[in-house]
Amino acid sequence: MSDILLLNGPNLNMLGKREPEIYGSDSLQQILEKAKEQIIAAGYSLDSLQSNAEEKLVERIQHTLDDDTKIIIINPAAFTHTSVAIRDALLAVNTPFIEIHLSNPMSREPFRHHSFFSDIALGVISGFGAQSYSLAIDAALEYLAGLKL
Ligand code: DQA
Repeated sequence: MSDILLLNGPNLNMLGKREPEIYGSDSLQQILEKAKEQIIAAGYSLDSLQSNAEEKLVERIQHTLDDDTKIIIINPAAFTHTSVAIRDALLAVNTPFIEIHLSNPMSREPFRHHSFFSDIALGVISGFGAQSYSLAIDAALEYLAGLKL
């Protein structure tokens, strides 16, 4: 069980090497290490999964019903613009989630302007590079603190 589940979609395993002028020079491993430090320092726990497969992400989201995940942070990557299946999984488990992006999809190609997630997310953070992750974690930690009130 973990308080926060961090999900990363396709091609994010290539961060650092992949179009660094858009996505920055940090690897996913570096981003995950910082995320873990930030969450543990606040007294919470983190689980994370990166997958290039839609099916794996859907199954991990379904599993949150059994593992007591309190909030999900998800960068659906290209699935942002295509995946009704991941959207439906998030609606099925009803676990609150924050959508994040390294880049700002709204300032990019028109096919990136539509997200299957934004209208059902607690909030969306995009355009801050690796900092989008730490900003989302701050928001998630505030949400978790609110659960204790
Ligand atoms: C992304 C933006 C998506 O449009 C793209 O397909 C990605 C990464 C981002 O973090 O900026 O793979 O989600």
